[in-house]
Amino acid sequence: MRIPKLLQAVLVLAGVYFGFIVVFDVILDAVIPSSLLVMYMFFVTAGVFMVFTYDEEGTRELVAPIKALVEDPSKRVWRNIVFVIVPLAAGAGTYVQMQPSFEAPLELRTIHPAPPSTAKIYGKRVNLLKLENPFRKLEKEDPEQFRELVEEGAAVYIENCQYCHGDKLDGNGPYAAGLNPTPLNFQDVGTIAQLQESYLFWRIATGGPGLPKEAAPWISSMPVWQNFLKEDEIWKTILFLYDYTGHSPRSWGHE
Ligand code: HEC
Repeated sequence: MRIPKLLQAVLVLAGVYFGFIVVFDVILDAVIPSSLLVMYMFFVTAGVFMVFTYDEEGTRELVAPIKALVEDPSKRVWRNIVFVIVPLAAGAGTYVQMQPSFEAPLELRTIHPAPPSTAKIYGKRVNLLKLENPFRKLEKEDPEQFRELVEEGAAVYIENCQYCHGDKLDGNGPYAAGLNPTPLNFQDVGTIAQLQESYLFWRIATGGPGLPKEAAPWISSMPVWQNFLKEDEIWKTILFLYDYTGHSPRSWGHE
């Protein structure tokens, strides 16, 4: 038995679609924008259409089931069902898409969610309660080397972070106006001054996608820096954040 051409085309499209989902979602564990998926499927559909209609016989075979559905008197019941369902589905789809969705979600966002006690960072499971900035002790032991590390952290910051968090660390970078939630203002006493260095390390390394559920109804644009920076670069940047703002990190000892 031969598979009808129309079904073949549908199967190819479904296969490509699920292949895409499996590769990105399951294997790479990456979030893909739906607009990208739509664009991709558009080109795949165009390609499949070209292959399946490249000669006349193929074209005839491809549309035969559709023609039969419209013309064949014995298919009247099916025709009526399809002619009701297709417009309804198109209408429902359009309605769902056109609903405005740019409003902020109703849920409140927890700006500083409780961190998990352990987190997977740089492929290792780390205990956030025990994690410390390996360079912090140099502040007292070797102030000169400490200054150098702060300078290096400043360079990392200017290269990567100021676009959003601002060159004065006040959350007012050139991209900030377009972002919701807005980049946090590190000068404000409500942000890094309240936090431990391990908390910052976790937030910088895992970014918006690393936030637990209670903080996530708003989609944070904070990048996942473990994909771009080395571990010691993050620690140095943290030194710089505290040094520049004049805040000191919260530590377990003072509570
Ligand atoms: C594309 C914009 C963008 C860039 C670039 C960016 N951030 Fe962020 N960052 C955000 C946003 C938005 C938030 C607030 C939402 C959130 O908490 O995820 C944030 C939050 C944070 C927080 C959490 C602060 C708190 O009080 O909880 C830290 C720390 C941070 N960023 C550090 C950095 C560092 C360091 C860099 C550079 C290596 C950087 N960010 C680059 C957008 C950005």
